[in-house]
Amino acid sequence: MTPIGPEEFKRGMRAHAAGVTIITTTDAGLHGGLTATAVCSLTIEPPQLLVCVNRRAHAHDLIRRSRVLCINVLAHDQQALAARFAGQDGVDGEARFGIGQWTTLKTGAPVLGGSLVCFDCEVIDELPTTTHTVFIGQVVAMSAPLPGPPLLYADGTYADIAPRPLSDRRRR
Ligand SMILES: Cc1cc2nc3c(=O)[nH]c(=O)nc-3n(C[C@H](O)[C@H](O)[C@H](O)COP(=O)(O)O)c2cc1C
Repeated sequence: MTPIGPEEFKRGMRAHAAGVTIITTTDAGLHGGLTATAVCSLTIEPPQLLVCVNRRAHAHDLIRRSRVLCINVLAHDQQALAARFAGQDGVDGEARFGIGQWTTLKTGAPVLGGSLVCFDCEVIDELPTTTHTVFIGQVVAMSAPLPGPPLLYADGTYADIAPRPLSDRRRR
């Protein structure tokens, strides 16, 4: 069957609200990072996540070489950082780290202060697709989760939401 076209697909994906992250890495003293919503938990035991990174992103080859990455889950007030790491303010490469408070956990990949949580990962596998590589990260360290509204991307724009349970059912 013929797949639907890219514009139709993008219209559909606008309905899929997603949390915004910054994926960072470090290789031989060079730092790289990009804003990403294609991030998903894979397994709990072992703790693994997957991230989809465009091969054209500057950080892509750094991740392939270093085999480490950190997933920084953004808070609602970190929109300027999301724009910076999406290249929306024209700043590239290492210079992107000029805003924000950066530290490290275990792998050396940059960890962003004020994020709701940061997952520090070793890359244990990768799957090439047409334009993106799916990297599987095993979580080797995690920052203490902070309370507060997440930064979301929905309907083609940044948004925030204060989580408000629709029922008193316990979460997973
Ligand atoms: C809200 C949002 C989500 C994004 N999600 C992804 C993603 O999941 N994977 C990806 O490769 N690029 C994603 N991008 C695009 C990258 O952030 C952007 O292409 C970035 O500039 C790549 O880094 P570079 O400029 O160093 O190449 C997203 C951009 C935005 C604004």
